[in-house]
Amino acid sequence: MTNGVPFIDLKRFEPGFQQALMEKFAAMTSNAQFIGGNEIAELERRLQTVVSVQHAVTCANGTDALQLALRALGVGRGDVVLVPNVTFWATYEAVVNVGADPVTLDASLEDGGVSYAALEQALSQAKPKAAIVAHLYGWGSQQLAEIRELCRKHGIPLLEDGAQCFGATYQEQSIYKGALISTTSFYPAKVLGGAGDGGAVFTDDVGLADKVRRLANHGRTTHYGYGDVGWNSRLDALQAAFLNLSINHIDQRIASRREAAHFYQKVLPTLGLEVLSPSADYAENGYCNVCLVRDQGKKKALETALKDAGIGFGNIYPGVMSSQEGARVYNKGHFGGRDGEVLCASVLNLPLFPYMTHEELDRVVDVVRGALSN
Ligand SMILES: Cc1ncc(COP(=O)(O)O)c(C=O)c1O
Repeated sequence: MTNGVPFIDLKRFEPGFQQALMEKFAAMTSNAQFIGGNEIAELERRLQTVVSVQHAVTCANGTDALQLALRALGVGRGDVVLVPNVTFWATYEAVVNVGADPVTLDASLEDGGVSYAALEQALSQAKPKAAIVAHLYGWGSQQLAEIRELCRKHGIPLLEDGAQCFGATYQEQSIYKGALISTTSFYPAKVLGGAGDGGAVFTDDVGLADKVRRLANHGRTTHYGYGDVGWNSRLDALQAAFLNLSINHIDQRIASRREAAHFYQKVLPTLGLEVLSPSADYAENGYCNVCLVRDQGKKKALETALKDAGIGFGNIYPGVMSSQEGARVYNKGHFGGRDGEVLCASVLNLPLFPYMTHEELDRVVDVVRGALSN
C-alpha cells in the first residue's frame, strides 16, 4: 500500500543488533545455557539499576508477574482485590487466577488511571486484601503519590501493573521506584520488548522478592524441597540474552518514542482532537498516543479514513473489564461511576513505535487532518 504506516513496526533494529544476537545465541547454544545462568543474572542486575529497585525477579510473562506478586502479598481464595475497570484483561485475570474476587474501580478521564474517589470509597467499604493500579498509557495517575499514601494509610498493599510504563519517570524518579511491588511485561510490543514472552516483578522488599522467586520456580527451597506450591514461571536464558542486548538501546528507543508522542501531543489538538497526556510530574515513555474521540460518528469517520489510507490504529482498550463476558461470574462489585465506559468508547491510538520517521508522522497527521476537515 502506498504511503501506509503500520500501527507498530517491531522490525526496526539498530545496526548490528541482529549480528550481536546471533553471536550470543551461538555461544549459548554451544554451552547449552538455556535455564538460569549469566544472562538471567545480568538481566536482573541491569533491571534493578534501570528501574531503581533493589530486587528484580524475572518470570515467564507479565500476567505471571501479576499472579506472583499477588501470591507474594498473601492474596488467595476469597480475598477481595480492587482492580481498575480500564486495563488489559490480564490485570483482572490475575486476580481471578489466584482465587481472589475482583472489585472494579472506575477510571479517571483526566489521566486514564483509577478514580481516586472510587479507590478511597472502596478501601473503606470493600475490605480488600490488596489493590491494583495499572500505568496504562506509558504514564500513571496524576495522583499516584496520593494513591500510594492512601493505600499505606489503610494498610492495604498496592500492586502496580507497570507492563506499559517501562522507562517512564514520576517526580524525576523511575515510576517503579516508589511502588511497594510492581510488575512489567516483555511482550514484544512493550517498550522493553523481548523476542517472545517474558516479565518481571520489582520490589525493594527482600521478603516479597524471595517469595516471588520461590513461587516462580515451583516453590522450591532446595532442588527437591518445596516450601510452597508455585509453578514454572522461569524466563528463558535466550530470552534474557535478547533483552540484555535490547537494554543497550533502550534510551535511544524511548527518546524516539517520546519524540513521536510529543509531536502528536503538539499537533493533534490544533486539528481539534482531544489528546490525553500525562501530568507535569511525568516523563512518559512514549508507549502510545492516546486520542479521545467522544463523538462516535466522528470516531468512525476517522477510523475509516485511516483504514482507507493504510494507516494502522488501535483502541487501547475498547471495553471495561466488568463488561467482559468472561467477567460475568467473577465480578464482585464496582466503585465509582461509568467514566471507564466513556474512556473505552472514545480511545483511539495512532501509530507509535521507535524510529518512526518524520515522513511517517507527517503522513498520519495529514490523513487525520483530511478526515477531520470533511
Ligand atoms: C497492562 C497490562 N498488564 C499485563 C499484561 C500482561 O503481560 P503479558 O502479555 O506479558 O502476560 C499486559 C500485556 O499485554 C498489559 O498491557
